[in-house]
Amino acid sequence: MTSLPDYKNDPEAYEIEERSRPDEMLMLEVAGEMAVESLENTYNVAVLDLCCGTGLSLERIINHPNISCAVGVDICQPYLDFAKRKYEQCRLKPTFILGDAVSVKLPREQWDVIMLASAYHHIEHERKVEFLNRVHYLLNNSGYAIIAENILPEYEESNTKEYAHAVKLFYTEVLTTAKQKNPNLPDYVASLIQRVAQYGYDGDYEYKVSLSLLLRDLAKARLQIVTQKRVWPKDESKLGKGGNYVFKVCCL
Ligand SMILES: C[S@@+](CC[C@H](N)C(=O)[O-])C[C@H]1O[C@@H](n2cnc3c(N)ncnc32)[C@H](O)[C@@H]1O
Repeated sequence: MTSLPDYKNDPEAYEIEERSRPDEMLMLEVAGEMAVESLENTYNVAVLDLCCGTGLSLERIINHPNISCAVGVDICQPYLDFAKRKYEQCRLKPTFILGDAVSVKLPREQWDVIMLASAYHHIEHERKVEFLNRVHYLLNNSGYAIIAENILPEYEESNTKEYAHAVKLFYTEVLTTAKQKNPNLPDYVASLIQRVAQYGYDGDYEYKVSLSLLLRDLAKARLQIVTQKRVWPKDESKLGKGGNYVFKVCCL
């Protein structure tokens, strides 16, 4: 049991937590830029956002004129209700579907752009490759998936102590960055960030991995990296290969 406030199923708390994290906002910004790049010179683009949450990962692309269809999938109804309200006034209203991103039935089989922003680390370890296989299946021949991920510093896969240490290092750096940007970061917000770390320690809801494990899973799913950017932190002195990354991938 923990006394930390929770953001799971609470869209307002989730958005407060995310928007107070410069590391996360930067990652979403770069993911949006990479997605927009993939939209240029392609028309009637169909966009799928798996694990779309409150809709943050669609914000930077939804108004692009080349998009004709946008669908978001999430398992949390309160998040989807929030996302629906957010996009009520948009030219193109996304369709939001409640379901498991690994198995949910979708309105079409082929997508031009698939957004996976903090999606892969929410899928349990034993289903990660199945999840990426599905992304491979759903991407059309010329399509791209944009993967924005929080990557832990390297640790030995089955070593729970090393894993917990990697989670601790990662979230210490997240909090340091948030406090550098806002020295008056409210305790409530700091506690929300600590709650994310707690899910990681508990092996519940958060299943983050290191770069080498993500790269291994992408290869297993025959997804090829076209672009790889580490957007935070600035150098490798604190987290080694850990940090926030954005990948553009296509089918092999
Ligand atoms: C960290 S949030 C990311 C939300 C959004 N993409 C963003 O960047 O803000 C992860 C989301 O994954 C959802 N989720 C977790 N497991 C899922 C699953 N099996 N299928 C669909 N969504 C899932 C959660 O409800 C949550 O909204």
